[in-house]
Amino acid sequence: METKMNEEERETTVEELEGSEIEYLSYGGEHHLPLIMRLVDEELSEPYSIFTYRYFVYLWPQLSFLAFHRGKCVGTVVCKMGEHRNTFRGYIAMLVVLKPYRGRGIATELVTRSIKVMMESGCEEVTLEAEVTNKGALALYGRLGFIRAKRLFRYYLNGVDAFRLKLLFPRPEFQSSLHMMADRNENHGQKDIIPPEEREEHLEHVIEHCAMQL
Ligand SMILES: CC(C)(COP(=O)(O)OP(=O)(O)OC[C@H]1O[C@@H](n2cnc3c(N)ncnc32)[C@H](O)[C@@H]1OP(=O)(O)O)[C@@H](O)C(=O)NCCC(=O)NCCS
Repeated sequence: METKMNEEERETTVEELEGSEIEYLSYGGEHHLPLIMRLVDEELSEPYSIFTYRYFVYLWPQLSFLAFHRGKCVGTVVCKMGEHRNTFRGYIAMLVVLKPYRGRGIATELVTRSIKVMMESGCEEVTLEAEVTNKGALALYGRLGFIRAKRLFRYYLNGVDAFRLKLLFPRPEFQSSLHMMADRNENHGQKDIIPPEEREEHLEHVIEHCAMQL
């Protein structure tokens, strides 16, 4: 009886939850490790050993984030970054949000925070794998600008194929060539839909939108 009441109370709390009640923290030490492990073990099909978790959070603590609701860990993202075939790239290894807390933008916020740090650290792209059947994850990453770069046959232990998803960041030279194209159009007397004084801001906006709709 008491358990049931507690569950009902908790559901009401989650139902009325406002985004501002969620607190986001970057990985803060060993006390966060069991929280991450519990969430991932419960929700992801792939089993990971403690060494895998430690590999990520010890080497890139700044890329792992946890979401808390009133002290309870309700979501997490675990990532890494490094050189890969002459490209400095970020990688999202694990992303989980507890079922009652889904659909409120928590995963989007967790991933966005990691991607921001990757961008600031000089990454040129971010990748991850998702099961081809994982509609939620595919929709979430698609909304953030990720493209399906490859299909990986029977990638997971459960035999399911994966999509390799990729988000490319605009390079500085891409930004300057957009400026050059805008100048050339102006010199050739083409009519600008965007007034010159607003163009700078517009280009920034387009670039940002292309990158990840932050
Ligand atoms: C995938 C997962 C992390 C999404 O978490 P979430 O906090 O609910 O995601 P968000 O609220 O940030 O969703 C953002 C967008 O993603 C899409 N999305 C998320 N879950 C979806 C679902 N189940 N079905 C369809 N679209 C979904 C929607 O476009 C959503 O935007 P909207 O709510 O404005 O329509 C969560 O469902 C989960 O933990 N699943 C199990 C673990 C997992 O699959 N991890 C990903 C491994 S690659």
